Amino acid sequence: MAYQQFYTGFLNANKGKQHYACHSHYFWPDCTREAMLNYWDDSAKYVDEKWGYFFQTLVPELQQRISKILNTGAPEQIVFAPNTHELLYRIMSCIDSAAPYKVVSTDSEFHSFQRQASRLEEQGAIELITVPTKPYHTFASRFKAAIAEHNPELVFFSQVFFNSGYVVNDVSDIVHSVTNDNTLVVVDGYHGFMAKPTDLADIAHRIFYLSGSYKYAQAGEGACFAHVPVGCKLRPTYTGWFAEFGELDKPRETGGKNNVQYSLDGMRFAGATMDFTALYRLRAVLRMFEDNSLDVAAINDYVMSMQRTFLKKLADCNHPLLNEKHLAVNNEMNRGHFLTFELDNADVTKALASKLKAHHILTDFRGNRLRFGFGLYHTPEYIDLRALSEIP
Ligand SMILES: Cc1ncc(COP(=O)(O)O)c(C=O)c1O
Repeated sequence: MAYQQFYTGFLNANKGKQHYACHSHYFWPDCTREAMLNYWDDSAKYVDEKWGYFFQTLVPELQQRISKILNTGAPEQIVFAPNTHELLYRIMSCIDSAAPYKVVSTDSEFHSFQRQASRLEEQGAIELITVPTKPYHTFASRFKAAIAEHNPELVFFSQVFFNSGYVVNDVSDIVHSVTNDNTLVVVDGYHGFMAKPTDLADIAHRIFYLSGSYKYAQAGEGACFAHVPVGCKLRPTYTGWFAEFGELDKPRETGGKNNVQYSLDGMRFAGATMDFTALYRLRAVLRMFEDNSLDVAAINDYVMSMQRTFLKKLADCNHPLLNEKHLAVNNEMNRGHFLTFELDNADVTKALASKLKAHHILTDFRGNRLRFGFGLYHTPEYIDLRALSEIP
């Protein structure tokens, strides 16, 4: 199947370039353009009634589709927000603790968590226990040991680490190791959702799963979501008026103060007014995949085959820096949709990324790690590494 046909708009706008940053910002399929126009048309048509229309049609459809992709069995537990940071902070705001509370996490979390956690630690609000992800093959056991030792209020880790592409295949195992029912468990699934086949059935009652559409769901910025654990009765302090939609929990006695009620389902983690354009784009992409019988397993197979093609072509280049020896993750079974090359230092990495860019090979880098992402708009012919012979 030729998938490039779905991406003609972005491909035409980037002729002559090789875009390997889909792990950061995926090209948008053509169907998203019409979706944005539909949003405009529906806003004009429904005006004040549009929110009712969105919550009766768009939101349930997306909840169903996402829940099916992740096999949570609980579509009503999906809640949307413009970014995952907002959802993370809302989850953290459920922890009611005068003393610093403990958070067990890793040294490879994206800035949305890392920066926020560092600031809270600086303020003395949390005690942050950071487990190194390397060596990867012992990560899961070291992480479980840290959870057992510290008995934290919050556990936060990624399904796929953004700075290496390493896939944590033992997510369920880690989650099941948390014996304290009061510990909140959050999985950052941004590099997993729509990239790696993911089945949350046996942990859907226990975890918050965060993701969004900017990367592998291909719908651009603005459509993030959380799966909220089934049966969750938590009451986020950072709460918006959307959290009061639908059926509400029973009034409770709060020491004579006003009682704040929450939706019974995932909406209890909702914020407030947001632009739903991105949700229109997301719906269009997910419908397009269904219409073309493209599921996550098929997408993953295709993308991993592109990685293999790339590595084969790369081997022929004998490049001193870009070669398999510098790969962060060698075993394909533990690799997400991007290759990470670990180089000597940040300067060398930045210089190489700039030279590649001058040859219209677009990548991205973090410190000494250069990342090449792969997507459905790549083909064996698209991958052309001949320019490497001119880049020392
Ligand atoms: C692992 C991971 N989590 C989250 C995000 C996005 O976070 P936010 O939605 O808060 O901007 C990214 C990248 O954009 C990421 O790589």
